[in-house]
Amino acid sequence: MYVRTPEGKERLLPHLDEGNRPKSASAPAVAVLAVDDRLHEHIPHIPPIKPELREQFAADPAQRDGITSFNGPLQAGYFILAVRACGLAAGPMAGFDAAGIDKEFFPDSSWHSVLVVNIGHPAGPPEFDRMPRLAHEDAVAWV
Ligand SMILES: Cc1cc2nc3c(=O)[nH]c(=O)nc-3n(C[C@H](O)[C@H](O)[C@H](O)COP(=O)(O)O)c2cc1C
Repeated sequence: MYVRTPEGKERLLPHLDEGNRPKSASAPAVAVLAVDDRLHEHIPHIPPIKPELREQFAADPAQRDGITSFNGPLQAGYFILAVRACGLAAGPMAGFDAAGIDKEFFPDSSWHSVLVVNIGHPAGPPEFDRMPRLAHEDAVAWV
């Protein structure tokens, strides 16, 4: 879901951590990335090669949970890269009340928010410098 209007921002901002509100308030667009717990209902449209997965996933909420908890954040990462590849800035924010956003925007729905991403062109220098990264030898194993 993209939030672009003042009315939409008014509904969104109270559910963000206080320090995050000014960032989303000033962003031209704010993406609320969400997973769909009833993803199996889109089978066989996706993926058409295994239509039997629809019944399998329908009967197994734990399996669906495993899929959404892995694929949701993975797709969020792709989304951030895609936004940046288009030449826009993408500011991911995990500081929000997911239950509050879900109640406000996705009531009676199977969607669950995963990440809020501010999109636009930064108005000035970032609030803080880029965080340090681990050294290669601390993060990578070669076998
Ligand atoms: C998963 C995740 C959650 C984040 N949550 C917040 C947040 O709630 N508030 C915030 O100001 N920055 C947050 N950040 C950091 C900023 O979005 C940060 O400026 C951005 O990740 C910098 O991009 P880069 O690390 O790709 O250079 C988060 C970053 C990530 C990856």
